[in-house]
Amino acid sequence: MIEQLDDYILDHISPEPDHLKVLNRHVNTRLLYSRMCSGHLQGRLLKMLTAMINPRRVLELGTYAGYSALCIAEGLRRPEARIDTIEVEDELEDFIREHFSTTPLGQRIDLHIGDALEIIPRINRGDWDMVFIDANKRTYVDYIETLLPLLPVDAFILADNTLWDGKIIDTAVNHDAQTLGIAAFNDLVARHPQLETVILPLRDGLTLLRKTRL
Ligand SMILES: C[S@@+](CC[C@H](N)C(=O)[O-])C[C@H]1O[C@@H](n2cnc3c(N)ncnc32)[C@H](O)[C@@H]1O
Repeated sequence: MIEQLDDYILDHISPEPDHLKVLNRHVNTRLLYSRMCSGHLQGRLLKMLTAMINPRRVLELGTYAGYSALCIAEGLRRPEARIDTIEVEDELEDFIREHFSTTPLGQRIDLHIGDALEIIPRINRGDWDMVFIDANKRTYVDYIETLLPLLPVDAFILADNTLWDGKIIDTAVNHDAQTLGIAAFNDLVARHPQLETVILPLRDGLTLLRKTRL
């Protein structure tokens, strides 16, 4: 029943653009861990949220194949708006650049190879008004603590995988470093005086945050 509903949803949302269909096929045939790729539904949501937020500059942590960055690029409405995306695995660089070059959208994305926490202070210009956190689950708390002072009030932060396949509430299996990292992040943002927080139970859980005035 749930699989049928998933199929129904994909049949009744905006179609996946051709360049992303090709990218998805290449993820499945050429990369490991294809499940990490955002995919059709989350990709359309990222585009829609980007169009709603209408950011000037976006930061993405965790590029993987570049699927989500291309979806965010599709949602940019300001002609000058750009995306910084950071990926730690240098062997993904050729794959990512190859697929960014298949569409003009790729020209709006600046790819940085390296550890997110090292790169953020080097490229920060104080103007990221939208952030997509999707890198190392163990360090989600470090990401939010590093980024919050750098972001303008009213910046939006999206954080992926915050329900972690339901493991977050399964006491039999929620003791590994990744689940503990996400649990600490969820606890922090739920009570943070400078954050407005909503969790969407979409896919693996997507948390939407807004930086508020203290
Ligand atoms: C879930 S995947 C990203 C998926 C992609 N955002 C999408 O939605 O299609 C997570 C990525 O984060 C990268 N990553 C892990 N730790 C990182 C770090 N410290 N800095 C930057 N990237 C990191 C991984 O190599 C992996 O490619």
